[in-house]
This record gives sequence, C-alpha cells and structure tokens, in this order.
Amino acid sequence: MLTVSVVQDVTDDVVHAVQRLVRQLSTSAAVPTDAQVAEIIRSPATTLVVARDDEVGTGPADGLSARGPEGPVVGMVTLVAFRIPTGVRAWVEDVVVDDAARRRGVGEALVRAAVEVATTRGARTVDLTSRPSRREANRLYERAGFEARETNVYRYTGH
Ligand SMILES: CC(C)(COP(=O)(O)OP(=O)(O)OC[C@H]1O[C@@H](n2cnc3c(N)ncnc32)[C@H](O)[C@@H]1OP(=O)(O)O)[C@@H](O)C(=O)NCCC(=O)NCCS
Repeated sequence: MLTVSVVQDVTDDVVHAVQRLVRQLSTSAAVPTDAQVAEIIRSPATTLVVARDDEVGTGPADGLSARGPEGPVVGMVTLVAFRIPTGVRAWVEDVVVDDAARRRGVGEALVRAAVEVATTRGARTVDLTSRPSRREANRLYERAGFEARETNVYRYTGH
C-alpha cells in the first residue's frame, strides 16, 4: 500500500532516501548532506513530502531501507511556500520517484499531496517548471490539474 506523508522528524531512512533520490533526479546537483536534508525538514519555508510503499522490495541490494511497517521511501516532493506582497505563493520542487516504483501512481499522489499542503498554507497559486524533455513529468503535472502558463522563465546563474 502507498502512504504519502509530510516528514516531521529527521530520521536516517528519510535522509538516505533523499540522498538516493537526488542522484536519480539530477546528475549535476550535489547530493545534500545529512545536515542539509535536516534543514529542509525543519525549515518553515519547505515541506518535504515522501511516499512509502510496503510492497516494494527492501534490502541493501536495491538501496531501499524500510523503517516501520509503511515500507521504504520510494518518492519525494518538496513544497516551498512563502508570503510576498501579493499573497502566499507556493512552488512544487524536486519531484522524483525511485526507478523501481515508477508508473504506479506514486508521482501523482505526491504532487496532489504537495498541492494540499500548499492549500493548507494559504497559497493563492502553486507553480512549477519542468523541461519539455521530461515527458512523463509534464503529463503528470497536467493530470494533476496544472496548466502551462504564458510567461518567460528567467534564471541568473552568475556566469
Ligand atoms: C516524473 C516521475 C516523478 C513520475 O513518477 P511516477 O510515479 O512514475 O508517476 P505516475 O505513476 O503517477 O505516472 C506515470 C505514468 O504511469 C501511469 N500509471 C499510474 N499508475 C499506474 C498503474 N497502476 N498501472 C499502470 N500505469 C500507471 C500514469 O498514467 C502515467 O502514464 P503516462 O506517463 O503515460 O501519462 C518519475 O518518472 C521520475 O521521478 N522521473 C525522473 C525525475 C523527474 O523527471 N522529475 C520531474 C522533475 S520536473
């Protein structure tokens, strides 16, 4: 069974899962340290939501370690919420589901849970970006009710 929940406490299995999932999300991002994962969990600006699946194989072989009956962490999303002059806004960031658990609805459940957190936080809107080449992700966001928006997305990288 799939369980989706907001992470309240810093535990080893969550820290290791975040580190493992970041490697599947990005080849360029540095894997966060234990302290950095703890910072995400403790910060009032960020909410880490994880999915656990008790039907996914566990053990050192696949790197999935379970803590408790709900099974290992198989996916995560981070919801960022903050107040600006025009209201509370929210962003969905770093959605990733473990290779071994994809195409079973975990991603959609995570995104819907993130939207619920945003609503609870009083967000007027929930934004996200996704490269067009991430086809599965784009289909998932549309299924979860997101609509492409006419806007220019800019990034300053300092070089
Ligand atoms: C994008 C990503 C998060 C999707 O996770 P996921 O758990 O596979 O997502 P879902 O299972 O909800 O949906 C994926 C597909 O499985 C299908 N599916 C869902 N439940 C299913 C089931 N029980 N049986 C068969 N298919 C199912 C969905 O319909 C969807 O199909 P589609 O892509 O043809 O539209 C995952 O592929 C991933 O982590 N990718 C790498 C990182 C990434 O791209 N992240 C997004 C950054 S913007």
